[in-house]
Amino acid sequence: MKIVVTGGLGFIGSHTVVELQEKGFEVVVVDDCSNSDEKVLDGIEAITGKRPLFEKLDLKERQRVEDFFSRHADVAGVIHFAASKAVGESVDKPLLYYENNIGSLVYVLKELCKQRRASFIFSSSCTVYGQGDEMPITEEAPIKEAESPYGNTKQIGEEIIRDTCNVNPGLNAIALRYFNPMGAHPSAQIGELPVGVPQNLVPFITQTGIGMREQLSVFGDDYPTPDGTCIRDYIYVVDLAKAHVVALERLLASKNRENYEVFNVGTGTGSSVLEAIQSFERVSGKKLNYKIVARRPGDITTAYADTTRANEVLGWKAKYTLDQAMKSAWEWEQKIRG
Ligand code: UD1
Repeated sequence: MKIVVTGGLGFIGSHTVVELQEKGFEVVVVDDCSNSDEKVLDGIEAITGKRPLFEKLDLKERQRVEDFFSRHADVAGVIHFAASKAVGESVDKPLLYYENNIGSLVYVLKELCKQRRASFIFSSSCTVYGQGDEMPITEEAPIKEAESPYGNTKQIGEEIIRDTCNVNPGLNAIALRYFNPMGAHPSAQIGELPVGVPQNLVPFITQTGIGMREQLSVFGDDYPTPDGTCIRDYIYVVDLAKAHVVALERLLASKNRENYEVFNVGTGTGSSVLEAIQSFERVSGKKLNYKIVARRPGDITTAYADTTRANEVLGWKAKYTLDQAMKSAWEWEQKIRG
């Protein structure tokens, strides 16, 4: 069965391509390479023994999207990762984010609505919950006003899919709300490739560990948490990739109860920034140079998932621990700087 993975050269996309190929799916990767590298295909091939088909394509180009889907009329499903994801940049360039993230989504959905039956998986984010009122956060928690244009594109994206599914019974979609993805494939053939100074915690930790950055700034230790630092739900990227495959299989087998469904994808366990640092120190055997600085504006205190729905309905559960995920991130960092 042929599956299109947009943004398939990116961090989560590439790991999902590996899991799909290992399950025997035929994958077509679409990527505009704006924040990724064609060399990722080598890593995927090294792991799976198979090079996916690849088309360099900007999904904002409506005509080219139409042409692509007319050439791949036999596609059974689409996993849509292609999007810009830097929160700070989205504040500075809102229209770029709305055009990239919303434009491409609309064009892909338009093509899928032409098919008799289509399966669509969307990359959403726990950012839609903002600071949840209760922990762990269930899918029923209210959607809070977005903190950034990036976050807003995830909320609007979900609404666009829901509204489209409402009037297109042949379109079957699942939005996966990721918590904090981290780590790399255990083979160290693919992993996260942040451009410039990483904004996310784990790549900043590993780059500090390897000596590329002098010091990690811990943004605040006066939060109302046990050690004063923020709590997040760090989900191993391979576990997350497998959640996409399971969600897709649910749609392909017509096991979905509604034609639009939403699932949290996290571990269900929260870890503080200091616990993440301790995990790094355990798995690397290195001391991490860090200092406590002021809070980062816009950060929420605590977010971790209630994963009951994904566990029971999808039959998916995160298997890897924070230490295992951190070890893979560290091995990847050593490999790419080696
Ligand atoms: C961030 C985004 C969120 C996005 C998510 C996806 C912000 C405000 N939020 O979430 O919209 O969906 O990434 O990856 O950018 N930290 C440090 N020092 C650092 C970096 C991070 O102490 O150098 C702390 C942060 O304060 C936070 C935790 O580490 O408490 C995790 O940060 P990060 O990896 O940026 O993820 P989120 O803030 O959860």
